[in-house]
Amino acid sequence: MTQRRAGGVRVGVLLAPIRLRAVWLCHGHTLAASVEAMTDTVSPQEADAATEKLLGQWRSDLASWAIPDEILGQADESPWTHPVSMFTVDDEIADSNSHARARDAVPTGGSVLDVGSGGGRAAMALVPPAGSLVAVDHQQEMLDAFADAATRRGVRARLVLGDWPDVADDTPECDVVVCHHVAYNVADIAPFLRALDDHAARRVVLELPMHHPMSNMNPLWKKFWDLDRPTRPTAHDLEAIALALGFDAHLEVWQDETWGRRVTLPDAERVRFARIRLCLSADRDAEVAAALIAQADAQPREVATLWWDV
Ligand SMILES: C[S@@+](CC[C@H](N)C(=O)[O-])C[C@H]1O[C@@H](n2cnc3c(N)ncnc32)[C@H](O)[C@@H]1O
Repeated sequence: MTQRRAGGVRVGVLLAPIRLRAVWLCHGHTLAASVEAMTDTVSPQEADAATEKLLGQWRSDLASWAIPDEILGQADESPWTHPVSMFTVDDEIADSNSHARARDAVPTGGSVLDVGSGGGRAAMALVPPAGSLVAVDHQQEMLDAFADAATRRGVRARLVLGDWPDVADDTPECDVVVCHHVAYNVADIAPFLRALDDHAARRVVLELPMHHPMSNMNPLWKKFWDLDRPTRPTAHDLEAIALALGFDAHLEVWQDETWGRRVTLPDAERVRFARIRLCLSADRDAEVAAALIAQADAQPREVATLWWDV
């Protein structure tokens, strides 16, 4: 494990115009307004403006997921928490496209930084070849679960408590940086991605569902609150941002057959978590259970691996 080097994006300014053109071609729907202003040559100022537009769209799309105050006011518990029991790691971790992409870049005995680590699914799947791990999470209970999983595997782990990228200066650079199922939490996504890139010696691998992780509950919001929920942003939007920031990003989309079944939770716990997410009180558990059964909450989900070499 080496100490992090100074500096931010290495190629952003130089490559931004070229990359933006590629993004426009792939995501005309996302950048329709910007395309009007596009000419054969895009000045650095125009490229910066288009990047800002993408970042602003990401921020406002995420803001649109806010729960109306009149519903939130009726909730007994915060619907936005991440329960630790949903993110613990078994001894066996099903392999996935994201794990394989990351593993390809980890040298034998190499180091992995897991940002928004939870219990460590993204990092533990890389042991071996990884010989040392760093976890960053803003929940101490998640770091405790990470430490347990590392001990069970006999691998060294360093834990950093706090918000990424605020704690980036206290975090060492590693061969590979992984960041699974965090991006939709992050409104200010540019410094977040730049700090991931800045801490990787070889590769950055993010995993995120194609649509917001709460999207599967949209029909339930309609059923219980008659509320229409958003459909943006998507993983394509994050890919466009990564390209605009100058990263040589690739997006791979695949079906995660294990979604909703990665940890074995008693049915009552699943119902309770869903009910809390929906801002409903405990006396609605039976209704939530019936709705979940009707909808089959543990269906395979379309998931994206977004990765780049540094
Ligand atoms: C949905 S869980 C995913 C956990 C794990 N990466 C996985 O895939 O199983 C998101 C995790 O990221 C943490 N988190 C979210 N935003 C963060 C931030 N800005 N800095 C540090 N941790 C964050 C949460 O505490 C939680 O443990």
